[in-house]
Amino acid sequence: MTDQAVDFGGAGGADRSGARPGRRRFYGRARELKELRADIARAGLDTLAGRPSPRARVLLVAGRPGSGRTALAEELVGDLARGYRDGVLRARLTEPGGEPVPVERAARGLLDRLGVPAPAGAAGDELTQLLREACAERRVLLLLD
Ligand SMILES: Nc1ncnc2c1ncn2[C@@H]1O[C@H](COP(=O)(O)OP(=O)(O)O)[C@@H](O)[C@H]1O
Ligand SMILES: [Mg+2]
Repeated sequence: MTDQAVDFGGAGGADRSGARPGRRRFYGRARELKELRADIARAGLDTLAGRPSPRARVLLVAGRPGSGRTALAEELVGDLARGYRDGVLRARLTEPGGEPVPVERAARGLLDRLGVPAPAGAAGDELTQLLREACAERRVLLLLD
């Protein structure tokens, strides 16, 4: 589920600083960054009703390959990271050649970074459930690319 989408159309352990090593200089995208930040700041219905939100905020950055989706997400993460005391976790969901990374592998990688033991031979569903539980009791920013 996605709370905010930015679409360009044509165009070891959680890291607490948020910055990706070797992060390049970033230019422009002021409007997209503003929209994403505004959405994070916006109170949802649960917040307005005084209830804790039952789920995490999901922001989606969509666009053509090479259009700057990763760069925008990294820029946003760099700005937001200090608000997430348990750090930033990143996972690649596709191989460099474009093939999807198996769910089991992505989930195991994230659990490992969180220090949560993953049972040998566990299926994707079990691992993603463990991951949801681990994230529910932490304040982490997850960047799925
Ligand atoms: N706003 C930006 N400022 C500076 N460099 C950028 C910006 N957006 C993209 N780039 C650069 O353009 C290239 C492609 O961007 P990238 O984020 O990898 O695209 P995508 O993730 O959509 O495939 C990268 O080298 C990236 O560093
Ligand atoms: Mg990318």
